[in-house]
Amino acid sequence: MTGRPWDQVAAEDLARLRNAHLLRERRIIEPVDATHVRWDGREYINFSSNNYLGLTHHHRLIAATRLATEKYGTGAGAAPLITGYGPAHASAERAIARWKGTQAAVILPSGYQANHAAIQTAAAIGRLGGNGVRFLVDKLAHASLIDAIRGTGEAMRVFPHNHVAKLQRLLEDAPAGQLQVVVTESIFSMDGDAADLPAIAELKQLHNFLLLLDEAHAAGIYGLHGNGLAAEMGVADAVDVTVMTLSKALGGIGGGVCASSVFCDALVNYGRAYLFSTSVPPTVAAAAEAAVAIVQDEPARRHRLRAISRHVRERIGRTKFGIPDGDSPIIPIVLGGERAALDAAQTLGSQGLLVMAVRPPTVARGSSRLRVTLCSEHTDAEVERLLGCVEKLA
Ligand SMILES: Cc1ncc(COP(=O)(O)O)c(C=O)c1O
Repeated sequence: MTGRPWDQVAAEDLARLRNAHLLRERRIIEPVDATHVRWDGREYINFSSNNYLGLTHHHRLIAATRLATEKYGTGAGAAPLITGYGPAHASAERAIARWKGTQAAVILPSGYQANHAAIQTAAAIGRLGGNGVRFLVDKLAHASLIDAIRGTGEAMRVFPHNHVAKLQRLLEDAPAGQLQVVVTESIFSMDGDAADLPAIAELKQLHNFLLLLDEAHAAGIYGLHGNGLAAEMGVADAVDVTVMTLSKALGGIGGGVCASSVFCDALVNYGRAYLFSTSVPPTVAAAAEAAVAIVQDEPARRHRLRAISRHVRERIGRTKFGIPDGDSPIIPIVLGGERAALDAAQTLGSQGLLVMAVRPPTVARGSSRLRVTLCSEHTDAEVERLLGCVEKLA
């Protein structure tokens, strides 16, 4: 143990976490291809990546990245309002906005930052309106949304997961003139279930609110053009601000905020998470633009992903593990205790399947789980191998 008192405090708590099976540690996982990794000298089928469409290894994405690096170099060199915003960024933002059907889009270095900038912008607009702002957020919304709202210092009310009736009551009770910002995800990251977007969209007939939707786990997978769950459900017009990540189905890194031109202009002025950070490298923007094109050109990827997701859900649903509703490629196998989740992950690991255990505080205490995620590039034989092992586990 170190002599520095602050390190000692941390070391004691880390030891406590280790004893409680809650310590988080990184491991060095070497990618082999879109669905296989090497870890500790052994190869595994990766069932814990958000690389839903296998685009990380798509030849068009690799070519676009290489080309942009050769043309523009490796880094943007400055924040977007200094000299860091170039033709690759502008072109990718136009492509994303066209795809999402919004007037404009802004690219940020991560989905985490995109959520911060979008929330900061909504908060600033609320303050400007003179009557303040209040965020109404689903209980299972991602940490980046919660952190962002807390960071604004503005009022927040949490409604029970997917409880639209409670959300409606909160909207009915809203102080006159105060901007209400409803914040939810389309596909929830840990349970893989969907928000009741039609019901939330219907609330717009009765109440005036800004709807901010995080489509991190739906972009690329849902919608006729892979442009998200709101589009698939025919309620895209009800969504005022969409946040998406470029880091999951799109196979790269970064986040995007898609909204009206005015909101995006406001974000460029009020979104501190955007203003005070270096632009993504041009190569990241070029990769995002290529990914959006592939998603539209190759619908077979998302069709296969959704077909295997339904199949796996149906088969696991027949075991003692209940599966939440939906057809997303995020499939939670809830085991309860942390130890049980870690042991199950180890059992699957011994069969060459990499499935991570997810424990508190990422999920509620008592709901530790394996979080299986599927990729369109998993073969039928690999999917069957997973199912065989999970069925044995059950
Ligand atoms: C729902 C949701 N929103 C936002 C993020 C953050 O995205 P990124 O990983 O690009 O920072 C994540 C992912 O981790 C997520 O699951």
